Amino acid sequence: MYYINSLEEYERSYKKSIEEPKQFWDYIATTFYWRRKWEQTLVWNFEEPNINWFVSGKLNITENCLDRHLKDHANHLALIWEPNNPNENSITYTYAELHAAVSQFANTLKRQGVYKGDRVCLYMPMIPELLIAMLACARIGAVHSVVFGGFSAKALRERILDAGCKIVVTADAGLRGHREIPMKEIVDEATADIDIRSVIVFKRTGKPIRMQAERDVWWHDAISQVDSVCEAEEMDAEDMLFILYTSGSTGKPKGVVHTTGGFMVYTGYTFQNVFQYQSGDVFWCTADIGWVTGHSYIVYGPLLNAATVLMFEGIPTWPNPDRCWQIIDKHKVNIFYTAPTAIRSLMAHGDEWVVPYKLESLRVIGSVGEPINHEAWEWYHRLVGKNKCPLVDTWWQTETGGIMISALAGISSLKPSFAGLPLPGVQPVLLDTKGNVIEGNNEEGLLCIAFPWPAMIRTTYGEHEQCKQNYFATFPGYYFTGDGAKRDEDGYYRIIGRVDDVINVSGHRIGTAEVEDAINEHDNVVESAVVGFSHPIKGQGIYAYVICNQPPADTNQTRHEINEMVTRIIGPIARPDKIQFVNGLPKTRSGKIMRRILRKIAEGDTKNMGDTSTLLDPSVVDTIIAGNPN
Ligand code: WTA
Repeated sequence: MYYINSLEEYERSYKKSIEEPKQFWDYIATTFYWRRKWEQTLVWNFEEPNINWFVSGKLNITENCLDRHLKDHANHLALIWEPNNPNENSITYTYAELHAAVSQFANTLKRQGVYKGDRVCLYMPMIPELLIAMLACARIGAVHSVVFGGFSAKALRERILDAGCKIVVTADAGLRGHREIPMKEIVDEATADIDIRSVIVFKRTGKPIRMQAERDVWWHDAISQVDSVCEAEEMDAEDMLFILYTSGSTGKPKGVVHTTGGFMVYTGYTFQNVFQYQSGDVFWCTADIGWVTGHSYIVYGPLLNAATVLMFEGIPTWPNPDRCWQIIDKHKVNIFYTAPTAIRSLMAHGDEWVVPYKLESLRVIGSVGEPINHEAWEWYHRLVGKNKCPLVDTWWQTETGGIMISALAGISSLKPSFAGLPLPGVQPVLLDTKGNVIEGNNEEGLLCIAFPWPAMIRTTYGEHEQCKQNYFATFPGYYFTGDGAKRDEDGYYRIIGRVDDVINVSGHRIGTAEVEDAINEHDNVVESAVVGFSHPIKGQGIYAYVICNQPPADTNQTRHEINEMVTRIIGPIARPDKIQFVNGLPKTRSGKIMRRILRKIAEGDTKNMGDTSTLLDPSVVDTIIAGNPN
């Protein structure tokens, strides 16, 4: 693996990656196992967009995650699984055991009629079988589409249909803290009117469920009928590896498509270098595999590096808010990667939950998913990192596939609340709203990327035009991230947050249009407008302005019904934190809602509303302010 282990090496690599990007990536790619070497490193344009990395290269990513390590690391731990309930035993897999389990499930999928190119939906709890199922798909060239277990049946149904999934893999139920999530029931509801070839069900809790004859099969029965030898399918570097749905500024979530070769090279390279992983380290990323962080830094990045990865089924606050620290001491975790929302919530429970733990094994700590505020940064660094662990604040997105801007642990200097410098191979630029490049430091602008990197989004599934419009059309010649950023006097980047209609709630991306569509399903709702507001734990909360047909007789009841509606259509993560009933919304003459005004009111910042003269009816603003419960 390509290993940058000093500041000089970072600077040399960065320079090389800009001056000779093809040679730079060529070299990194040669540290992986390819069945056939690529003919060209990169063929691209950002207009269509059309991005091809490692053209005509042939490989299978699971040979790189598993087979390649069997020679020297067969008995090395690949996975440590910590269950929800601390009284239940942990489970481990060596590389040899994981290789066998993946091969066996790959044979199971084949037996269920899954072929190369078919899409498989994984709606599962955080159990080893989720990771095994993902790798089994990759082994036979099927495309996995993991759907986060917190999504509702309706949201799951939409995703199954959009990707045209042939089969679904799930569990009877999932465990998160004291809650049991009826996953199989949700799958049944989601697939009631869809023709699914089969549903493979892992028995996790023993909850009684209904098995549909000729469609549903138990995981344990299915695997008992096949052996654990499965030749990996030869894939083209640009063959699809997975689809992952994420929210954008338009109503419907988009299926972000990642391909095999580039995703492998980039996640392997970034995992090694950002976390400065050393052989034998135990790496723990607390993300759910339903999000991109889990794909890149629980599954692929670590396994490509023959790392030992810890996977946790539960939540940080159950049975008590010291669960994370307990797990770190129990399994001697060396690298801990989590989200600001988790840090803030644990911080709110008080220092006494952390202080008793030694946390001696920790060497590196990391953060991802949203801007980390100063206070949370200091607390995390001081109480968890004991002032000695470098804290890497990693900026990236579902669309970027891997970390883009971050310190390299122990190498780059750290600045609280700054992600820092771009990794070698990443070319960020700041643009003004007209699309001019902002040169120099101490500037703020819209964050774009000027040159391709191997794990970048290739398309949105079935909707290439939308991919172009969303990411490449705003500023021709650039990939537009949707984030605003500041570059300080040292060239360090600080991510300010989304500039589009996406809210980042507890690190979960939620499109305002999606929530509005769900609210509007309520019989008494005429129209709604949703914005984000600062929330002490979640980072951002959801504020909904709702116009009703008839004034609600019981506002609390209507609020409750709206919340239920959103939970049913999207999932509990998208429930509004605040709902304000209004008579009108601030609209321009062309009918566009001026969200800037609604954001200010939601923040309680009503002193200076700026220019409201372009509004159709400026008096609406005063009425909303008067009715604001803040
Ligand atoms: C935000 C998660 C500030 C950002 C990997 C981005 C961050 C969105 C950071 C992507 C960070 C992610 N500092 N903001 N270190 N990391 N973000 O697709 O707004 O779930 O656009 O990917 O999260 O969220 P996504």
